[in-house]
Amino acid sequence: MRFFAHASAAVAAVALFSSTSIAQSGTPVAYTDPDTGITFDTWTVSETLSEGGYTFGMALPSDALTTDATEFIGYLLCSSHNSTFTGWCGVSLGGFMTDSLLVLAYPYGGDILTSFRYTTGYYMPDVYTGDAELTQISSTINSTHYALIFRCSNCLQWTQDSASGSASTSAGLLDLGWAQSFPAPGNPSCPSNISLLYHDNGHNIFAATLENAPNASYTDWTALAQTTVTGSCSTTTTATTATPTSSVRVSASASATLK
Ligand code: HEM
Repeated sequence: MRFFAHASAAVAAVALFSSTSIAQSGTPVAYTDPDTGITFDTWTVSETLSEGGYTFGMALPSDALTTDATEFIGYLLCSSHNSTFTGWCGVSLGGFMTDSLLVLAYPYGGDILTSFRYTTGYYMPDVYTGDAELTQISSTINSTHYALIFRCSNCLQWTQDSASGSASTSAGLLDLGWAQSFPAPGNPSCPSNISLLYHDNGHNIFAATLENAPNASYTDWTALAQTTVTGSCSTTTTATTATPTSSVRVSASASATLK
């Protein structure tokens, strides 16, 4: 019953968006990252829908199709224009931009910085105040793309103020959303202080079928998630300069392949 209710909602959502733009396929393609051996279900947005393309991937605990997972290992492969328009991209774990946990990523200073966001309207999303945690497994940046593999803990249920939501892996089908932009975030050094422009390189929602995402090696793979990249957030400002008082920037040891 639960499956059908969720599946119907997802299909209805895709149908809704198909009427205004071409939806990408929700059928996953299995991808194994050559450096880590992690296998993902991936969903790719073609270059005709988003310049440079966009891919999101997900690996899940082995029992995720019977017991709702609370976490996943994610793969983001996003586009940049050039050294100025380095961009940002994100995934909505509830499909819609609103009332969903948003995971945002952008290259800056040789690292990929991330921020959890949440919004009830179609404007700059707020910093998410729940207990989601992102730990990096690998990151790669070149002149046209950036790729991040990360563990996302407490990411499949979310609570902001009095609102809550979730993504149910036992349904076998997730409503996901993507968005991608070329202008880099403003105030990029501190992810919780960034400003964004509207995602000019596309957005959409899709119903993502889970096939290869659950894996018996999931627990082993989580041990690869050891890098926390926080950026540099100033706690002291003066009229002329901002002095970083805390800075943790650790480069990921492994590198993701840009496929
Ligand atoms: C200043 C920041 C942002 C603005 C002004 C903005 C604005 C909008 C607007 C107006 C739409 C609806 C467009 C339409 O119906 O054609 C939309 C859709 C969408 N946005 Fe954003 N957005 C912002 C940031 C983000 C971020 C950070 C994410 C994810 C990390 C995101 C994810 C999405 C997704 C997945 C959709 C399609 C699903 C939906 O319509 O709810 N947006 N955005």
